[in-house]
Amino acid sequence: MPSHEIAVPNLADPKTYADHDMTEIWRRLRAEDPVHRHPESEYGPGFWVVTRYQDVSQVLRDDKSFTSERGNVLATMLQGGDTGAGRMLAVTDGPRHTELRRLLLQAFAPRALAGVTLRVRQSVRRLLTEAVERGECDFAQDIASVIPLETICDLLAVPVADRQEVLKLTKSALASDYESPGADMDRMARGEILLYFSDLLKERRKRPGTDPISLMANAEVQGERLSEEDIILNCYSLIMGGDETSRLSMIGAVRALVENPAQWLALKNGDVTVESAGEEVLRWTTPTMHFGRTATADVKVGERVIAAGDLVTLWFTAANRDEAAFPDPDRFDLARSPNKHLSLGYGRHFCLGAYLGRVEINAMLDGLRTFAGDIELTGPGRRIYSNFLSGMSSLPIALKADPAGPSRRPE
Ligand code: HEM
Repeated sequence: MPSHEIAVPNLADPKTYADHDMTEIWRRLRAEDPVHRHPESEYGPGFWVVTRYQDVSQVLRDDKSFTSERGNVLATMLQGGDTGAGRMLAVTDGPRHTELRRLLLQAFAPRALAGVTLRVRQSVRRLLTEAVERGECDFAQDIASVIPLETICDLLAVPVADRQEVLKLTKSALASDYESPGADMDRMARGEILLYFSDLLKERRKRPGTDPISLMANAEVQGERLSEEDIILNCYSLIMGGDETSRLSMIGAVRALVENPAQWLALKNGDVTVESAGEEVLRWTTPTMHFGRTATADVKVGERVIAAGDLVTLWFTAANRDEAAFPDPDRFDLARSPNKHLSLGYGRHFCLGAYLGRVEINAMLDGLRTFAGDIELTGPGRRIYSNFLSGMSSLPIALKADPAGPSRRPE
């Protein structure tokens, strides 16, 4: 059926995702118009909407015909580009990307993250024990929002004395939670974070450690030292990349477990491994609904020809439910195998923090199955307001202790 017969709401409008159940729209697009032309709107020019697993993978793999340097999310692409292009890892391509990524990977390797991993597990256990004692909490605000930011501070080796302040600023700066965020306050908070990192950078130039700031402060990329601005931009992007994504998948995990009691039981009884459960949580929640690229040459995707210069959006949220890639895709199945979801991307820009994100999600699942006996939703919660991220910013729950919990799996 031709595309114009599918009523596709404006995908650039954050309200779309609050007002529509997108599952059916994605299913129809995958089936009937998998490379869909989205018209221009008040948000900007038209763009392609790719929804099939195979086509999304093709574009992610083909970094010759598609670039990230003109933005990699709809908001920046529609505005005509990203100010961090060619400097911030996610929106840099070619040899500069390869070198910068190789440098940063040293701080993201499992061995380098051993200490961070241990502290994630300890924090999760502490927060869950406290929540179980209280009997209820807002899982999003009280637990899931604490772990990722603490973890990134730990990763960047932010001194303990500064953490409360940095956490407060980052929380104000990253505000897709609300429909009309206090824009001025956000800008101020963002400015203060950048200043803070600038000071931290001076310190790391003098006394380097093994954290990403020290690595960037003391290395050369393409034969030159990175500028202060480039380093700060990349620090900021680590916070942006690592905070909401992990947070939203943990929140989505709890919601899915409550709504699928048999799966919760399977997790608690050890019928499925935490690792397998973590992958299904990633597929199911798909915290980043899309990423995007700009075509650098004319290229065929599915049955359509995308022209050089065209904007292309890749809907992971649709591809992760593609029946051609996942049998029974609308079933939350913690034992799903294989489970080659696209939630962490694919190809050269595959998530740098993938290992860390998985550590956080798996620690949360392990903590829940150890300490929680019974979980119930006690309120409707609140969705975030975004055309990029998907999930809940509030999830009130009641948590009963597992009487056998801590003794069953001692630390
Ligand atoms: C890239 C998702 C956690 C830092 C990506 C991409 C996705 C993604 C889909 C690919 C973007 C593209 O192709 O344009 C997620 C999800 C996470 C997560 C779902 C958690 C569940 C993290 C964490 C960090 C991080 C914890 C860092 C602390 C980055 C960076 C990139 C990236 C720096 C750019 C990599 C590159 O361009 O080479 N992430 N991410 N992410 N992510 Fe994550």
